[in-house]
Amino acid sequence: LYPNLTMVSKIISLSFFFPLLLLFSLSSAKTPSKPRAFLLPITKDEATKQFITTIYQRIPLVPAKLTIDLGQRFLWVDCDIGYVSSSYKPVPCGSIPCKRSFSGACVESCVGSPSPGCNNNTCGQSIYNPFIRTSTSGELAQDVVSLQSTDGSKPRKYLSTTNGVVFGCGSTFLLEKLAKGVNGILGLGNGYVGFPTQLANAFTIPRKFAICLTSSTTSRGVIFFGDSPYVFLPGMDVSKRLVYTPLLNNPVSTSGSYFVGEPSVEYFIGVTSIKINGNVVPINTTLLDITKDGKGGTKISTVDPYTKLETSIYNALTKAFVKSLSKVPRVKPLAPFEVCYNRSSLGSTRVGPGVPPIELVLGTTSWNIWGSNSMVAVNDDVLCLGFVDGGVEFEPTTSIVIGAHQIEDNFLQFDIANKRLGFTSSLLFSQTTCANFNFTSKA
Ligand SMILES: *[C@@H]1O[C@H](CO)[C@@H](O)[C@H](O)[C@H]1NC(C)=O
Ligand SMILES: *[C@@H]1O[C@H](CO)[C@@H](O)[C@H](O)[C@H]1NC(C)=O
Ligand SMILES: *[C@@H]1O[C@H](CO)[C@@H](O)[C@H](O)[C@H]1NC(C)=O
Ligand SMILES: *[C@@H]1O[C@H](CO)[C@@H](O)[C@H](O)[C@H]1NC(C)=O
Repeated sequence: LYPNLTMVSKIISLSFFFPLLLLFSLSSAKTPSKPRAFLLPITKDEATKQFITTIYQRIPLVPAKLTIDLGQRFLWVDCDIGYVSSSYKPVPCGSIPCKRSFSGACVESCVGSPSPGCNNNTCGQSIYNPFIRTSTSGELAQDVVSLQSTDGSKPRKYLSTTNGVVFGCGSTFLLEKLAKGVNGILGLGNGYVGFPTQLANAFTIPRKFAICLTSSTTSRGVIFFGDSPYVFLPGMDVSKRLVYTPLLNNPVSTSGSYFVGEPSVEYFIGVTSIKINGNVVPINTTLLDITKDGKGGTKISTVDPYTKLETSIYNALTKAFVKSLSKVPRVKPLAPFEVCYNRSSLGSTRVGPGVPPIELVLGTTSWNIWGSNSMVAVNDDVLCLGFVDGGVEFEPTTSIVIGAHQIEDNFLQFDIANKRLGFTSSLLFSQTTCANFNFTSKA
């Protein structure tokens, strides 16, 4: 419609232009119940602390169990074993998805008979597993996916894409260290071949998604793709509680594997200082800026279980935290943590153990990390400050990586189209949790 409309407006006078617009909007309003959003349930794997979901893919449809990675370029699955589909299509070299995935490789000729993962003239990509920091080359392909639609308060019917959604064809050995039964990674990065943008294009829904990680290994959290409302029991639309901060560009990928010139597809935000109990933690704020070579700054990760800090920030934060609780005796620490307390010596609040909040200042707004997100129960008795030292290996890249424990029971909306992050801080304040989406209700 769009190119036609512009052409028409060039030839005819303005007075015709407006009635035309009206006509288009009226006809689109009549389209029968176009879905506004889709959802996926998320579970937390106890052994690996990975967050897992299942999508339906291929024809005939089969479930693919995937680990969620906010910072990865695209969805990938193991194509070595059991990939059977009549709707599989390799992505050709030089095509738009190939160029826009920054692929620097073309597989001109694959030795062997054509099969998923082996086709001639196919866009080559690097398929990456962040848990073993290993990548392999694989072909970029597309295939049908099917997801459950939603009105924001309950699940509705499954809908399949008419064409394919781009994904990477990975190998079985790359499944190492992924949770049991998982056969790939759901890459939620902000690029063109990222799952959120692919889905938005396939279903013409807004280019945004929201994630709510459950803190429990026995109940389900949720991802919404598309627009609000996002309604949790007892009937609360959490989109009304979102506070926004800009999403920042990082010009250089910080992934363990990327092509020259490829920007980061991860979600960076602009932390300007850190406060504990209202007092500024003395850190070198230069480390909070993203440099032109892609270093420094703050990003959000679902594959790091705990927030990782550059060493000098880690030291300053733990020192300030200990000082703020100087009257409380510490107990013997348990690795990887260094600051631990007996549960019985900390009070308990609606938002977890009674410790001072850690405030990430984001210019004019703040993200508060309360006890349930700052403290980790390492056993029945002991609670530890759930931040870890990024160490030397980590030093050359991102200064603050906000990990999964710190975003559990927080609602985060990644609004790619408008380059902003909506966040709620702890949902426990609002007397709900990420496990409170009513999956059981029938449409
Ligand atoms: C690729 O092309 C070569 C040369 O035409 C052919 O021998 C080979 O079988 C083809 N491979 C696939 C996977 O189609
Ligand atoms: C702050 O960090 C930057 C970037 O690592 C470094 O160049 C600078 O020397 C540091 N400043 C101080 C006062 O340590
Ligand atoms: C924690 O406190 C309880 C009650 O005071 C005590 O029984 C327990 O041994 C303490 N645990 C540790 C690890 O200090
Ligand atoms: C979920 O929705 C169903 C039907 O809409 C309703 O019967 C059920 O009570 C709801 N669950 C809760 C916990 O409210």
